[in-house]
Amino acid sequence: MNKNFYITTPIYYPSNKLHIGHSYTTVAADAMARYKRLRGYDVMFLTGTDEHGQKIERRAAEESKTPQQFVDDIVDWIKDLWKLMDISYDKFIRTTDPEHKETVAKIFKKLYDQGDIYKSTYEGLYCTPCESFFTELQLNNGKCPDCGREVEKVKEESYFFKLSKYQDRLIKHIEDNPDFLLPQTRQNEMLNNFLKVGLEDLCVSRTSFTWGVPVSFDEKHVVYVWLDALSNYITALGYLTDHDQAFNKYWPADVQLVGKEIVRFHAIIWPAILMALGEELPKQIFGHGWLVINGGKMSKSIGNVVDPSILVARYGSDAIRYFLLREVAFGQDGNFSNTALIARMNSDLSNDFGNLTSRTVAMIEKYFDGQLIGPGHANRFDAHVKQTIKDNIALMEENMEKLFFNVALEHIWTIIRRLNKYIDETTPWILAKDPDHKDQLAGVLYVLAEGIRIVSIMLEPFMPTTPAKIWAQLGIEPGALTAWESIYTFGSLEIINAKKGENLFPRIEVDKELAALEAAQTPATPPAKTPAEEVPEITIHDFAKVKLKVGEVIASEKVKNTDKLLVSKIQIGDEIRTIVSGIAKYYTPEQFVGKKVVVVTNLAPVKLRGIVSEGMILCAEDEDQNLIAIAPEKDIATGSNIR
Ligand code: ME8
Ligand code: MG
Repeated sequence: MNKNFYITTPIYYPSNKLHIGHSYTTVAADAMARYKRLRGYDVMFLTGTDEHGQKIERRAAEESKTPQQFVDDIVDWIKDLWKLMDISYDKFIRTTDPEHKETVAKIFKKLYDQGDIYKSTYEGLYCTPCESFFTELQLNNGKCPDCGREVEKVKEESYFFKLSKYQDRLIKHIEDNPDFLLPQTRQNEMLNNFLKVGLEDLCVSRTSFTWGVPVSFDEKHVVYVWLDALSNYITALGYLTDHDQAFNKYWPADVQLVGKEIVRFHAIIWPAILMALGEELPKQIFGHGWLVINGGKMSKSIGNVVDPSILVARYGSDAIRYFLLREVAFGQDGNFSNTALIARMNSDLSNDFGNLTSRTVAMIEKYFDGQLIGPGHANRFDAHVKQTIKDNIALMEENMEKLFFNVALEHIWTIIRRLNKYIDETTPWILAKDPDHKDQLAGVLYVLAEGIRIVSIMLEPFMPTTPAKIWAQLGIEPGALTAWESIYTFGSLEIINAKKGENLFPRIEVDKELAALEAAQTPATPPAKTPAEEVPEITIHDFAKVKLKVGEVIASEKVKNTDKLLVSKIQIGDEIRTIVSGIAKYYTPEQFVGKKVVVVTNLAPVKLRGIVSEGMILCAEDEDQNLIAIAPEKDIATGSNIR
């Protein structure tokens, strides 16, 4: 039997701070990785960051950082978050890693040399936030079908990947391998909406920015970010290097987890690239659903994101991990709310599980000074308890294989609830009143302790820190008695040394905690700045670096598909410049034409909505952010210097 297991998460964009939705994918992958390690597999769990592309280049510029500084800062933050959430990745890949970049360049060259990549011209629509190309037909009301934002028209010389060539093989692969793409609904979506509609060749290089992997034989091109990003799953294993042992050992991946909005890239483009490279396809792509808030996707731009670090700081990572995997059926969307989180912690963790453990430990201490040796007398309920444990171990394992984490947890809780019921059935506090029942009491407490031991092992993939605390309370040494194999043998535990420890999951006062949690989640309003603090003092030499001139608006029109932007032709002496300004709400093109304005003429040009803007028109802004263009006080020739 093959005892290797390779699991991947998508690599995250470092453009935003990650939120609980991102943690969801990673926690799921981590639970699976930990489960497989417990089952004796040699596991490779890969995660990382997707750091190239125009979006990052722009964000970095906005923060006056180099792209590399910008990504380095965020990647540090992401690694800290994964530590906080007990994510046990084996490798963290960054697409800025030198080896990754070298291998991506090699992949591109190889595909070009064999004719799977060719040069042509791209004319089309591009959504920068999503780093995706679309055809007119794919747009939704003229906007990006994925995020709803404006797309940009681009026309440039580009390299193309022969995606269309792989269409039939992709269809066949999906149809012949029912486990390749799960859940089932995603197969239908890919087949009907994309594959059977017909695939177009994919533009795989850009020339309009530089933050990416250069095409080795044509350096003004950088490799399209998705080709760069998808390759991470094999470059991380040393693919096409002289140290490709990990690739030989782990590829093809066993499971690649992705969110449903990027299934398209993973179930079509990625397998096509692998086919072109002559490599095996991953055994499974699993497209999970979204964590939503009030029905809407969590997103930084909407401002409804939940910061996982605040939750972990208050409740610990075990509780948050449990909630994420228990509350939502993996594959479907699920709602996140503070109320649901606290309700689950109280009912499942504190009531069901915490109480079971603390009552059992307390009774062993109280009735036996903490010492129990051997199983004691059997009880007429024991057989049923043991059967429940046995059945639910099998069901838990079966559901883990299918990534049905919530169902797997439900089976663990079936055991927990059975043990709680066993306490009610056997009433140990009554047995304790009669010395003749001492041996029977020992038998009952033994069954409880042994059941808790088994449950604690089953919980390890989900809760990395709680099990060890339970073992300490029962006096169990980690080793044979905490190994997965030991859960099949009820009665492995022989000596119990119970010692009460901290309350694992203290009960939460709902109203009070909800208010405190909401307060913790509300960002503090930054203190009002005094004008002197807002910008640093500059010298006259600093100011002289800004070249200001008088210009006249000779033509102006609205930029298509926006309500904010005017694109204007400005006469500045004998020069005419194109300038895009965000003033369409304050001036109609007709009102604007003929005005004398002040122009910053030495600003680096920027592309806005596909138009190169060659300068900036100065405006005054009032408290309500209304804009008024600044004009010379008396008439003066265009091109005049302002100083
Ligand atoms: O897509 N609920 O990166 P990303 C559940 N860099 N999952 C969510 C979520 C939510 N609210 N929000 C995000 C990218 N995710 C690319 C991947 S792979 C070669 C390149 C998930 O940072 C999302 O579905 O936008 C995706 O799987 C992952 O977080 C990374 O998203
Ligand atoms: Mg995304």
